[in-house]
Amino acid sequence: MLTVNDLSFSYDRDRPLLHGIDMGLRAGDSIAIVGPSGSGKSTLLALLGLLLSPDTGTLSLDNCHVPARGALRDRIRREKTAWVFQEAHLLGQRPVIENVALPGLARGQGARESVEVARAMLTAVGMTDHEQATVDTLSGGEAQRVCVARALCQRPCLVLADEPTGHLDRNNTELVIRCLVEATRDSVLFVATHDTWVADQCAQAFELVNGELI
Ligand SMILES: Nc1ncnc2c1ncn2[C@@H]1O[C@H](COP(=O)(O)OP(=O)(O)O)[C@@H](O)[C@H]1O
Ligand SMILES: [Mg+2]
Repeated sequence: MLTVNDLSFSYDRDRPLLHGIDMGLRAGDSIAIVGPSGSGKSTLLALLGLLLSPDTGTLSLDNCHVPARGALRDRIRREKTAWVFQEAHLLGQRPVIENVALPGLARGQGARESVEVARAMLTAVGMTDHEQATVDTLSGGEAQRVCVARALCQRPCLVLADEPTGHLDRNNTELVIRCLVEATRDSVLFVATHDTWVADQCAQAFELVNGELI
């Protein structure tokens, strides 16, 4: 599903941040990226999620070589990658179902289909009962489960979760991570975290040490 060969990246030529990153991952793989603040976890996720271009190296997703730039790269990013961030980034004044259906509408899906898919994903994260609730009335953990549902609507090949439980207590962290791992059985899941319990829920964990994945 995802192959990465010899990826390297630096923000500043004199200070290489990531180098020699190699990976080969199948659908259903879940990978935790751990390491201290500033070690490059978010940068690595941004490279994998095609938000940043590497200095060297190649990446292929769903058997498709990802070009360094251009329309095909943008399409692969739109269709095959999805994010869950630390901040929910939801429309607070709007109902849950609208928030989850919105990306489908933005991609040109019909209203009925977008809502149907959104409902199915809310069921997958155990949030069906909150479909009509306004986002502002949800707890932090509930809002993050809505984000997971929203990310999965397009059936992405690659799900990037950057500190998805950074603002949550232990109970909500457990609920969010379990539903994230469960609901991404057909994707590759990356979770950047400094919570060892969260890392333990992923099938594999890598640490970023001096720019290398160990
Ligand atoms: N846009 C940027 N421009 C320059 N340096 C950056 C930028 N974003 C992050 N950095 C630097 O790159 C390093 C890694 O950052 P980051 O990937 O955010 O690490 P982490 O997510 O592990 O905390 C840090 O030293 C950070 O200051
Ligand atoms: Mg970070």
